[in-house]
Amino acid sequence: MTLQVLQFGATGQLAREVLARQDRNVAVKALSRADVDLADPAAVARAIAAEPQVDLVLNAAAYTAVDRAESEPEAAYAVNARAPEAMARACQARGVPLVQVSTDMVFSGAGAGAYVEEDPVGPLHVYGASKLAGEEAVLAYCDRASVMRVSWLFSAYGSNFLHLMLRLANTQPVLKVVDDQRARPTAAGDVAAFILSQAARLARAPAGASEWGRLHVVNSGCATRVEMARAIFALAWPDRPAPAIEPVPTSAFPTPARRALNAELDASRLARVFGLQLRPWQEALEDVIAEMQPQLAPA
Ligand SMILES: NC(=O)c1ccc[n+]([C@@H]2O[C@H](COP(=O)([O-])OP(=O)(O)OC[C@H]3O[C@@H](n4cnc5c(N)ncnc54)[C@H](OP(=O)(O)O)[C@@H]3O)[C@@H](O)[C@H]2O)c1
Repeated sequence: MTLQVLQFGATGQLAREVLARQDRNVAVKALSRADVDLADPAAVARAIAAEPQVDLVLNAAAYTAVDRAESEPEAAYAVNARAPEAMARACQARGVPLVQVSTDMVFSGAGAGAYVEEDPVGPLHVYGASKLAGEEAVLAYCDRASVMRVSWLFSAYGSNFLHLMLRLANTQPVLKVVDDQRARPTAAGDVAAFILSQAARLARAPAGASEWGRLHVVNSGCATRVEMARAIFALAWPDRPAPAIEPVPTSAFPTPARRALNAELDASRLARVFGLQLRPWQEALEDVIAEMQPQLAPA
């Protein structure tokens, strides 16, 4: 029988990638902002309660404007913390598991190595704190909840570092790119594929099983922003001289929300519990850029 996933979010990077990957085994019903405004927790709860058949709820939506959140904390907390809480309570009431997507930005970046799931958190800004509050609420109110932290998402759609670099390369002779932030760039499509591949297992897993709790879901390999920018240009325009990059420190780009320097997530729990690791980020980037080829003709 086809597994039914109810997804919050329809237009975001991850939401689109999940929708594109549904098949005869897993059907995804996506709720857009027009269907359910996540700022309204009662509407969130009603949507879950009213769905005729649902085997798994996936929250792929979020307030993701990291800098704007500094001046809109109420909106960030409503969407990133209170909506997931409403989802968790409604899922618990229906006996349905919940996948909540979270972020590396719950960490301060002060640690030297890669962060494991149990490492102490310390968000540097409102967005990170609101996502952390969402994690805590989901784990407190639903005993079959997975909090999947992802990092530096990229896809052929939406607003991300890949698109920013390609746009700037066509308009600026020299690109200033920060070289002191590092993380694991991750394809939204690879996260989507992982979630759908595990949907049946998650739908069956009882409370207390190893599947539940926090999980880092990131591609293999780490990069700085400069390394990622160089890889983007080499793959996007192999026959054209690479745009000039001037490496600069994060302090050269003052932003309302301070960025962590080390956002590297360790994914060994993913290997231990699910027996797999996601492919290297460069391979995933190559596929995404191939998907974008028609848009990449030199300006
Ligand atoms: N992007 C990254 O680099 C990154 C890194 C780490 C973690 N994450 C996490 O990964 C998840 C997916 O991120 P993403 O990059 O796919 O996000 P995205 O592209 O910014 O999309 C966010 C989605 O949330 C929806 N949304 C926002 N406010 C809403 C509201 N009030 N009611 C209903 N829907 C609302 C948006 O709908 P509209 O289109 O209608 O605005 C959009 O579909 C999020 O949990 C995010 O925190 C992302």
